[in-house]
Amino acid sequence: MKPAPFDYLRIEQAQTAIDHLAQAGEDARILAGGQSLMPILNMRLAQPRLLLDVSACSDLKSIRGQRGALSIGAAVTQAELEAWPSLSSQLPLLHAAIPHISHFQIRNRGTVCGSLAHADPSAELPLCLSALGGEVVLRSSRGERVVPASDFFLGTLVTARRADELLVEARFPLALDDTGYAFDEFSIRHGDYAIVALAGVVNANEIRLAVGGVADSPKVRQWPTLHGSDLDDALNEFAWSLDARDDAQASAAMRRHLVRQLGTRVIARAHMQRTQRGHSPLPPGEGRGVREITPAPVPHPNPSPGGRGAHLPAVQKRDISLMINNAPRTGAASSRTLLSDFLRHELGMTGTHVGCEHGVCGACTIRIDGIAQRACLTLALQAEGRDLQTIESANSNDSLLARLRASFKRHHALQCGYCTAGILMSCADFLRREPHPDEAAVRAMLSGHLCRCTGYTPIVAAILDVAHTHA
Ligand code: FES
Ligand code: FES
Repeated sequence: MKPAPFDYLRIEQAQTAIDHLAQAGEDARILAGGQSLMPILNMRLAQPRLLLDVSACSDLKSIRGQRGALSIGAAVTQAELEAWPSLSSQLPLLHAAIPHISHFQIRNRGTVCGSLAHADPSAELPLCLSALGGEVVLRSSRGERVVPASDFFLGTLVTARRADELLVEARFPLALDDTGYAFDEFSIRHGDYAIVALAGVVNANEIRLAVGGVADSPKVRQWPTLHGSDLDDALNEFAWSLDARDDAQASAAMRRHLVRQLGTRVIARAHMQRTQRGHSPLPPGEGRGVREITPAPVPHPNPSPGGRGAHLPAVQKRDISLMINNAPRTGAASSRTLLSDFLRHELGMTGTHVGCEHGVCGACTIRIDGIAQRACLTLALQAEGRDLQTIESANSNDSLLARLRASFKRHHALQCGYCTAGILMSCADFLRREPHPDEAAVRAMLSGHLCRCTGYTPIVAAILDVAHTHA
């Protein structure tokens, strides 16, 4: 499972990407976080001629308040939005929904706008944008248009974006006083695709409910305030209208049941949150006190003049230099070389394992600039000039990793050890962010990893053991 050949272009300004889209159209794909696109490329479900990497575009990297909405640029990651200090008060629906998006290792790299552009019917962010009545901004050489969520999501992985348009930002309306918000979803395992996801918004006069995972795009229904059997009837009618289908995950009847049950729960929670918000209204004014933030730009060692970015044709290889475990390393990579393969085959660092190559098993997890990420969903070229940490650093300079490794041994938390390197790298990031997690938090973090042989009980015990003694 490797991508078909493509030309790679690292872009530094959004306008450069728009210029290339105007020429290449359907032959080009936008790479922002790549957490949806890279699995598709690895499985060769898409074979673009040109990949336009906009992850380093400084003009797509801001979170700002604008006319009562939060505007999120195309290069902002889900983790950066999750860490935005005002999220719980200004966008409580997103605050509740984001932890359900896949796993934290994926959110570290996946972008908000990338998820919207991908338009998976089970995805949380399209559902929230639909529930809130948000919009996206699409820009091309022909101009700019603002498209409401209700007109943007057209079907499974299909949107109203035209081939020459770049989704430059998404606008999520900020929370209103006297309005409550709630989110819930049902999946087989934390972080898996939602079998049914629901987002509820209620005020004194109206209930608005959005459902994902059932139809081919998020569906929204509005009612005047309803209670008791009237609400039951409305939810039942909505559930049947979604035309649920049987599949390997769940039957249509189960999906309808979940819409009714979770719908009741989400609406009740939204009412409760509305009551609580009434006691602590939001600050007044445009933008509601939203502070603009611009997450740190990704450093690139050799930015080319004129913002044209680094270009590598499909047929060529070139040397890239980076830091790995505090030592400078250089190796050759083509545009389609995955970082996991670069580490293993070019540099001989085989401690990083490869399992699924679509971001699910976690075996390839490493840290890039300190942040746990999937090496199989990252191109080697994207690691140029970055600071990587792999499992090999447990031998030398990382005391937390060494303690984790010793604890895994003590608790018999590994048998074949194939998953272990990735789990340890995730733990090293997780425990630095959350030094004293409870068991539920550890299990949520571990949902980003698959262990085939040991079982999770000793792994959880080993991690908690280190957490309890963490300095
Ligand atoms: Fe990368 Fe499975 S997540 S190999
Ligand atoms: Fe064998 Fe986890 S210890 S896969």
